[in-house]
Amino acid sequence: MSQDNPKTRRQPPRRGGRGGGPGMMAGAEKPKNFKATMRKLVKELSQYKVRIIIVFIFAALSAFFMILGPKILGNITTELFEGLMNKIRGTGEGINFDSIKQTILFLLGLYVCSALLAYIQGWIMSGVSAKVTYRLREQISMKINNLPLKYFDKTPQGEVLSRVTNDVDTISRTLNQSLTQMITSVTTVIGVIVMMFTISWQMTLVALLILPLSAVLIALVVKQSQKYFKKQQDYLGHVNGHVEEMYGGHVVVKAFNGEEDSIKKFNEINNVLYDSAWKSQFLSGMMMPIMKFVGNIGYVLISILGGWFAVKRIITVGDIQAFIQYVRQFTQPVAQIANIMNIFQQTAAAAERVFEFLEEDEEIAETPNPVKNVEHNGNVEFKHVQFGYDPDKIIIKDFSCKVNKGHNIAIVGPTGAGKTTMVKLLMRFYDVNSGEILLDGHNIKDYSRYDLRENFGMVLQDTWLYNGTIWDNIKYGRLDATDEEVLAAAKAAHVDTFVHMLPDGYNLMLNEETTNVSQGQKQLITIARAILADPKVLILDEATSSVDTRTEVQIQKAMNNLMKNRTSFVIAHRLSTIRDADLILVMNEGDIVEQGNHEELIERDGFYAELYKSQFEEDFVETEELI
Ligand SMILES: Nc1ncnc2c1ncn2[C@@H]1O[C@H](COP(=O)(O)OP(=O)(O)OP(=O)(O)O)[C@@H](O)[C@H]1O
Ligand SMILES: [Mg+2]
Repeated sequence: MSQDNPKTRRQPPRRGGRGGGPGMMAGAEKPKNFKATMRKLVKELSQYKVRIIIVFIFAALSAFFMILGPKILGNITTELFEGLMNKIRGTGEGINFDSIKQTILFLLGLYVCSALLAYIQGWIMSGVSAKVTYRLREQISMKINNLPLKYFDKTPQGEVLSRVTNDVDTISRTLNQSLTQMITSVTTVIGVIVMMFTISWQMTLVALLILPLSAVLIALVVKQSQKYFKKQQDYLGHVNGHVEEMYGGHVVVKAFNGEEDSIKKFNEINNVLYDSAWKSQFLSGMMMPIMKFVGNIGYVLISILGGWFAVKRIITVGDIQAFIQYVRQFTQPVAQIANIMNIFQQTAAAAERVFEFLEEDEEIAETPNPVKNVEHNGNVEFKHVQFGYDPDKIIIKDFSCKVNKGHNIAIVGPTGAGKTTMVKLLMRFYDVNSGEILLDGHNIKDYSRYDLRENFGMVLQDTWLYNGTIWDNIKYGRLDATDEEVLAAAKAAHVDTFVHMLPDGYNLMLNEETTNVSQGQKQLITIARAILADPKVLILDEATSSVDTRTEVQIQKAMNNLMKNRTSFVIAHRLSTIRDADLILVMNEGDIVEQGNHEELIERDGFYAELYKSQFEEDFVETEELI
């Protein structure tokens, strides 16, 4: 039986401070170690080296061809202008349409080449980025299967989910767009500056002077708006978290009359969000107008200068036209470079999280030579087992016991005694610190995990159900079971008695939180699943704790049949249910304090007898009260 936990849990609130802000100010997120992460990313990309180099060359060439455009167009304008002037003056030949035609054709060729290169480059890069992200997702998925349970104990599910989706997405987008955009932008900026210088160095200097001016103005605005952006992101996180909490825990909120407080708190954070959001949006909205304004001043200056030069015949009319076009082409890539630098930061942060995850300690590797073809009977032996979830905090100190095949073992003890822990060790969800656990004469570490777990069927305290119909959930126990077998298991576990009262019967979809069936019904479904799995060793951890006593007795009967020829571990708080066990292990604080069958333990008049009596007295008092 597969032992992953298919039930989806609630996703924790999304981290604040991600995405959101438009343009240059998006995300204040910074990686811890930009260089190291980038090195890893480059390594990840290195197998596509050749393709990426081709992409870079094509992108640069494509941008370069585009840059030539205005200069050539300018030549045409000059040709027209000069020709016209000659005509007016009556000197020379007039407009040379042949040469213009040729130039236009050449230009057209350039543009087509540029578009073609851009197209090929985009095609190659999309392929590379899709492959890289495919591999990353694959690695993450493999990693999830190899992580020890300890990791899942400490990491919320949403964390992992966000790595698989958001972070990998961010990397993909950067590879796909930003990387080549960076090449194009840098080429464009350099190319444009060179072209402008070839036209007129004085005008170029004027154009370049505009840059620091707008940079200063923008820096001022950014400084202000960054503050509000940060606040907006933080409070967006708070609002999300609050809503999530209220939604997920609405029963608790209602039960303790927390609605008013909750609304008050929501209004408070929502107000802060409103305030910071509109300020940051307004300020970032001001960026474009400011840049345009400064840009326009630049135009005016350049036009005056250009006109004067033209009159003095220092430069041609077409050159002025080309120059103005270059100035227009210039600001955009500069802004883009700034933007992409920011995106690189975010990407590094995302990549860092992904790599961090991929570098997490893995579950202890499978043995290279697992024992095979062992005849499984269900003999289990614990030998001086010592274990703690945290190596410094030992929970199971020295646990030894031998269980023969077909025996019915009950484990009892107070809450927190370590009963569930023992079961988890047996299934090898965790590895023992010292000592060993044997299954049919072999250390459980010598089996492959798959072979080992195939021996066990379990019903745990926290029921494992996944999004799917009741039928599918039962069938998960043994996927090749026939319909009759599934139905028989459902009947034995008394699922059949309640299922017909549900709206869709066996086809009822269990929802994400499995709130549409009762706690006891959930337990019955998981019992049916274990019955269907027909394992060598059956583990029932408080399997019927939420079921009414009458049904419990009925299930017990069905179970007795099921448990006849197999080893079973039954953990129960209601001691009346385990009276017939072959061996009762009484646990306290991680150790077996007593063992024996019911009669022996009662006779002994120790811990078990005390536990039993206290329950019996309670029952007795309850019955008395009823009478
Ligand atoms: N995943 C975990 N990480 C760290 N400590 C844990 C973890 N699970 C359980 N513990 C601790 O181990 C001890 C034993 O827990 P265990 O679940 O085995 O108790 P139990 O006997 O099954 O109790 P109950 O009767 O309430 O089910 C407890 O003190 C608990 O706090
Ligand atoms: Mg338990």
